[in-house]
Amino acid sequence: MENTSNNKRVVFSGIQPTGNIHLGNYLGAVRQWVARQDEKVNYFCIVDLHSLTVPQDPAELRFQTRSLAAILMAAGLDPARSTIFIQSHVTAHAEACWLLNCITPLGWLQRMTQFKDKAAKQESVLTGLLDYPVLMAGDILLYDAHEVPVGEDQKQHVELARDIAQRYNSLYEEEFFVVPEPVIPEAGARVMGLDDPHVKMSKSLAHVRGHAVRLLDEPDEIMRSFRRAVTDSGREIVFSDDPEKAGVNNLLTIYKAVTGKSEADVLADFADARGYGDLKVRVGEAVVAMLAPIRERYNELMADPAELDRLLAKGAEQARAVATPKLDAMKEMMGLVLPGG
Ligand code: TYM
Repeated sequence: MENTSNNKRVVFSGIQPTGNIHLGNYLGAVRQWVARQDEKVNYFCIVDLHSLTVPQDPAELRFQTRSLAAILMAAGLDPARSTIFIQSHVTAHAEACWLLNCITPLGWLQRMTQFKDKAAKQESVLTGLLDYPVLMAGDILLYDAHEVPVGEDQKQHVELARDIAQRYNSLYEEEFFVVPEPVIPEAGARVMGLDDPHVKMSKSLAHVRGHAVRLLDEPDEIMRSFRRAVTDSGREIVFSDDPEKAGVNNLLTIYKAVTGKSEADVLADFADARGYGDLKVRVGEAVVAMLAPIRERYNELMADPAELDRLLAKGAEQARAVATPKLDAMKEMMGLVLPGG
């Protein structure tokens, strides 16, 4: 039994409530979620359990979880059209992770690029960090999601979720899980750091001055970050794969994603630019204009925490109605006795 209503395709995506949500998260993920709300059945999950895979300050994590919910709603996710919820409110996610752990070979997880990168930077690697993609597979598979809109960096994890779904289906029941597809946006899939255009803009570096544009930054700060953006010693404003031009390419890519214009139209906009200084200011201004209404709405939502909690409770209830029967079916298939028979 598939989770579809009116034959609409099901979309599931998630975002961690840690660090500061930045322009890369917005252009690479959130904005596509917002745009497709009416075409699909949507589940958007604030993945607090994933955040625990690295040490967190409890009070800060709690604040960031609510704050992210407000940001997502301010950015245009509408609780009336999409199911927006906190992962830990739906216990089926952690349980599905366990069941899927028991059919996932360790080697599949040790191969994950993100695990290898993150583990290499830590002295002691937590088991949760290795297991992170299995929890993510559970997130997606519980809802029979067809599509998983993510930035480029999560593609490998969605591919792993496909492998896990296929393995489960072949072990227990053909077509039990929908095999999900990653959906990567054309522009904005990979927004690079403004201070170093060779590294991905990342939440873990968002506190570094000039690295990221955080969604709630004040206009002045956003403009400062753009003015300081690293470019090159030339003067050519072009889209390019040349590593030397990565900074200019990143600025143009951001502008393209923000305005939705074609590459030709973007270049036409900068035909009269007086050097890189001008480019940086104009891209910064476009970003400020895009983010201003989001910041305003965020402040309104955060001023009414009871309403925010009510919306999140409703989201969790809608999610549970889909995830719990799917989890029970998994348990039964795998030989567990359900309470009450
Ligand atoms: P997270 O919280 O790191 O990032 C949220 C989304 O933002 C995208 N993203 C970017 N896109 C473009 N440029 C960037 N610099 C950039 N940085 C991040 C990410 O690709 C992601 O789409 N494991 C996931 C969360 C998750 C999930 C899921 C996603 C948990 N369960 C199920 C989809 C489906 C993560 O840590 O994303």
